[in-house]
Amino acid sequence: MSDLSGYERSEIRKLREMMEIAKLGGGVEAINKQHAAGKLTARERLELLFDGGRFIEIDMFVTHRATEFDMSERKAYGDGVVTAFGKVDGRNIVAIAQDFTFMGGSVGEMHAAKIVKAMQYALSVGVPVVFLNDSGGARIQEGVDSLRGYGEIFYMNVAASGAIPQIAVIMGPCAGGAVYSPALMDFIIMVDKISYMFITGPRVVKAAIGEEVTEMELGGPEVHASKSGVAHFVASNEKEAIEIVKKLLSYLPSNSMELPPRVQPMDDPERIDTALNNVVPEDSSKPYNMYEIIERVVDRNTFFEVHRDFAKNAIVGFARLNGYSIGIVANQPLYYMGALDIDSSDKIARFVRFCDAFNIPIITFVDVPGFVPGTFQEHRGIIRHGAKIIYAYSEATVPKITVIVRKAYGGAYIALGSRHLGADFVVAWPTAEIAVMGPEAAAEVIWRKKLQSIEDPVKREELLKKLAEEYRERIATPYYAASRGYIDAIIEPSHTRPILIKALEFLMTKREIRIRPPPRKHGLIPL
Ligand code: HXC
Repeated sequence: MSDLSGYERSEIRKLREMMEIAKLGGGVEAINKQHAAGKLTARERLELLFDGGRFIEIDMFVTHRATEFDMSERKAYGDGVVTAFGKVDGRNIVAIAQDFTFMGGSVGEMHAAKIVKAMQYALSVGVPVVFLNDSGGARIQEGVDSLRGYGEIFYMNVAASGAIPQIAVIMGPCAGGAVYSPALMDFIIMVDKISYMFITGPRVVKAAIGEEVTEMELGGPEVHASKSGVAHFVASNEKEAIEIVKKLLSYLPSNSMELPPRVQPMDDPERIDTALNNVVPEDSSKPYNMYEIIERVVDRNTFFEVHRDFAKNAIVGFARLNGYSIGIVANQPLYYMGALDIDSSDKIARFVRFCDAFNIPIITFVDVPGFVPGTFQEHRGIIRHGAKIIYAYSEATVPKITVIVRKAYGGAYIALGSRHLGADFVVAWPTAEIAVMGPEAAAEVIWRKKLQSIEDPVKREELLKKLAEEYRERIATPYYAASRGYIDAIIEPSHTRPILIKALEFLMTKREIRIRPPPRKHGLIPL
């Protein structure tokens, strides 16, 4: 055997050189421009994401094959997108990072083909896909080939929906039809200052309707996180965005056929918390902070809120109970007394469906006086949106546990994880009020004639109060619901954590396979 050390074959040298060129994407100048704009490059982002900064790149040498507009002179290996697989916290994922340094990360035929192929890998292997968006949109020079590419990406997003988790991070522009790939994914994380999303930009808005608006006012992270609900998280910088991706993944299984990973529990499963006995005010018209209940019940420091700034009258997020991943849904009495409106309905229904698709048990904390009244809500379709919650809970087959903390009135009682929609275990605190409507409103209906017959308004008010109290004691109590078996137990608030853990562990083996004739392609959730 000859000694080859010190000798480098020309083919190896060529490969190394080509890889070095490929890694420069659109070139050094464009990389400097990217850095000057306060942004990392596609590869730097992937290094932050993958364990030890290591990943296997796919299709490094793909180039476009467009010829119009001098495109044959303008090529770069990779065609403006880096696709890869590797590990995040020891579990495989596929990642896609658009490279703005080549033609603004614009999406041409081959760029799109790389994305589609990476997503096909993710789907066939059953691992999450993380898509780091930074693109000027459809590559204008490639015309309809570019649009075809987008169409195929969207098609893959839909094919993967509910089978593997899909997470989009917006780290630059995302405009026009390009927004629909993130929109079809499960979670969107936007990065402060450098990202925006809109269908039509400020120039078109001005030309079409005369409205003057900046990019950030139109589609910046703050707008999408608080008003439109398009974004689920906002990160203050790219590094933080990647941390959010990792945290999110830690609660999720790799695909719909797996259970989420359980972590070593760091909190006492038998922990009793006496402070919980006094969180709900004695006066039931007073609000309190639902976060306090959630934080005291779940494993310490594990609550990870989704959609924090959107529809604050509802709370959704992931947490852990004795190390198991769970989805939390709750009303927040600090906003509209926890009543449901259009946005909170969408927020809850979407989250419940996500948890169900990925085998994450749902725990619901209920304190809901009903739906928000008025023309604003009615005219925009609170009926259609509220129906989504009912649909989502009824459809969900994961373990569903409900804690009725205080108010549970009318349709909102039914919608929020009631036994009647298939909840597996429903408990109520002694502070629970469960009925068709609030005691005052109920008394006014039941004893309307009697009340009308009293002329003195002070006396009438006194009687109303008395009758309402009577209704509260006789009907709107958890004991009445318990007498019908609609709730399984009335529990002392301080014991909520150990009881929920035991119920969750009991329900872990639940398997519900629904086959009901006639066969259907899919149900029709009211959209
Ligand atoms: C081809 C593009 C491009 C695009 C950017 N570039 N977007 N090339 N097609 N869509 C190129 C630029 O020409 C430039 O090339 C390089 O990328 C960097 O862009 P800059 O303009 O220098 O960067 P910046 O100042 O940061 O501005 C970024 C930008 C701007 C806001 C995205 O480039 C822009 O407005 N681009 C056009 C956006 C657009 O109209 N896209 C189509 C949207 S419609 P050089 O050679 O100068 O380095 C759409 C429909 C999708 O996407 C439909 C799917 C269903």
